[in-house]
Amino acid sequence: MASATPLTAAVESLSLQTSSDDSKFPNCYPSLNPVDIYREHIAETLGAATGIDTEKIYSRLAWTNTLDKGDLALPVAALQIKGKKPQELAVELAEKFPESDLVNPPVPDGPHLKFFFSANKLTKTVVGRILKEQAAYGTNGNQGLRDPKDPTKGRKKIIVEFSSPNIAKPFHAGHLRSTIIGGFLANLYTVVGWDVTKMNYLGDWGKQYGLLANGYKKFGDEEKLLQNPISHLFDVYVKINGIVSEQEGPIKELKEQIKSKKEKGEDVTEQEQELAKLADVSEDEKARRYFKNMEDGDPDALALWRRFRDLSITKYRETYARLNIDFDVYSGESQIKQESMTTANEQLEKSGVSEQSEGAVIVDFTKHGAKKLGKAIIVRKDGTPLYLTRDIGAILEREEEYHFDKMIYVVASQQDLHLAQLFKITELMGYKDLASRCQHINFGMVRGMSTRKGTVKFLDDILRDVADKMHEVMKKNTEKYEQIENPEETADILGITSVMVQDMSGKRINGYDFNLDAMTSFEGDTGPYLQYAHARLCSIVRKAQIPVEELPAANLDLLTEPHATDLVRLLSQWPDVVMNTTKTLEPTTIITYLFRMTHALSSSYDVLKVVGSEPEVKKARLALYESARQVLHNGMRILGLSPVNREIRHKL
Ligand code: ARG
Repeated sequence: MASATPLTAAVESLSLQTSSDDSKFPNCYPSLNPVDIYREHIAETLGAATGIDTEKIYSRLAWTNTLDKGDLALPVAALQIKGKKPQELAVELAEKFPESDLVNPPVPDGPHLKFFFSANKLTKTVVGRILKEQAAYGTNGNQGLRDPKDPTKGRKKIIVEFSSPNIAKPFHAGHLRSTIIGGFLANLYTVVGWDVTKMNYLGDWGKQYGLLANGYKKFGDEEKLLQNPISHLFDVYVKINGIVSEQEGPIKELKEQIKSKKEKGEDVTEQEQELAKLADVSEDEKARRYFKNMEDGDPDALALWRRFRDLSITKYRETYARLNIDFDVYSGESQIKQESMTTANEQLEKSGVSEQSEGAVIVDFTKHGAKKLGKAIIVRKDGTPLYLTRDIGAILEREEEYHFDKMIYVVASQQDLHLAQLFKITELMGYKDLASRCQHINFGMVRGMSTRKGTVKFLDDILRDVADKMHEVMKKNTEKYEQIENPEETADILGITSVMVQDMSGKRINGYDFNLDAMTSFEGDTGPYLQYAHARLCSIVRKAQIPVEELPAANLDLLTEPHATDLVRLLSQWPDVVMNTTKTLEPTTIITYLFRMTHALSSSYDVLKVVGSEPEVKKARLALYESARQVLHNGMRILGLSPVNREIRHKL
């Protein structure tokens, strides 16, 4: 049903791309990016005709947001030529531009010079390449090379840390977004030739795991644990936490009594004894002791914890697989060595970055030129490390182990301060270069994410709920529904697509409302609509009964209609879109482009008919549609979606 061409297929062919392109312009790859052919040509032609520096022209040529603005535009003012008004200069340059078989005569438009590529050549280049390169079209493996001129120097290494849920706690919207955005970033860097390590940094350490272990002894059920570890551990955690809260009441009361008695000068021995007794048998204290054993490396204590961790990871793996995500490393707070943290703390102390404060060790950023970062504790009074301390240890360990060129932390913007503190401490510790290679990719909140049965706890619940809703939407079209081979599976994939497309449609930093009705609709720029657009192209190609292998031989001269040309022009932009996305690191850069494609497609079907056309015309149009399908497919794969092949809904 879903065609899951592995991304690696695209990546494998990257090695073919590394043959060095001979262009004198930086980052110009005419053999990989058709638009670069035109950039090069325009720069050289205009340079030769006017004497303006070709590299300057090349670097100022800009892409356009809509096709009426041309395929490339030159903001003439950016050429910084003195003594002439941009408007006049644009006219002059247009006049001087000689006749060319690649581009039409340039069109001055105020201070801009618009370039339109000649349709016929463009069509042959673009459609020809897409049909040949398939999944590799748009990827540019040279971007990931350490030295673009010398592939033997190897590829750049990136760690993308994302998802990072906490064991025995709910998988909240923040984790969902981190998973979706992180998966997208990992795919993006993969297709542009970086060596990517996907890392999950689990919240799997701390006193709460002592609580969980003790809770399991009281409320645990082996069978349930094996069946669904994540949800069972959460239940246990909730129950034992209930006891902790119950016990807190009397303890608090006693503390207050003691306080007021002391104020009155009365004797509190009895109450203090009672308090000590209560505290000693409290679950909280037991958890502390259990966790102390874990920290001390007690094999029994660790065995149970490790079992919970392993079972949870197994379950997570299954769920991530539904989102086409496969982590290379399951790291976590537990994995950070005491030694790394001690070394870091010593270094911080030696360099005068950290200081003692009321028995704890803190970093006062205000004293180190970073007022906004306030203060942070790095060692508690009792000598134990914190979340931040572990992250400091982790960054150093990763540097040592992976020698990465870049590391991305995909974490909600609620943790902006935490990550800024982490990077600043790294810098202050003397690792300025390391800090400069790290980047926090943040994102806003999802509002109102809940299932219809109540609040969401786990990723699985969310996905099941959306799939159910999707199934209902599909059933509304009875006739079509009956033709779907496996409706459940389709609903599942469309449901996942719905959630992901909604999540990736806006800029990352903006939050959004989790809206089941809107996201599962076939109308508007939604996930189901994107899938529908892809499936429709699949079905056009399938029904025409011309083998895809024959399409490269089609006579593309027959694609003369403006609708066809506009589609080709959009298709030519795909490699630029991918490249631009490596700058914005925004999934919406890709989504916006894909929806522009789907809109252009939907207005083309009535004009560029396949059924009933002359055989040669039919073949040429199919070559175009197959190219469009391929590009939609390539884009969807970078987003992490599974493109559906069968038509899922007839007409909107
Ligand atoms: N487990 C953390 C949480 O749920 C997220 C971890 C983010 N990554 C990091 N290196 N601190 O809030």
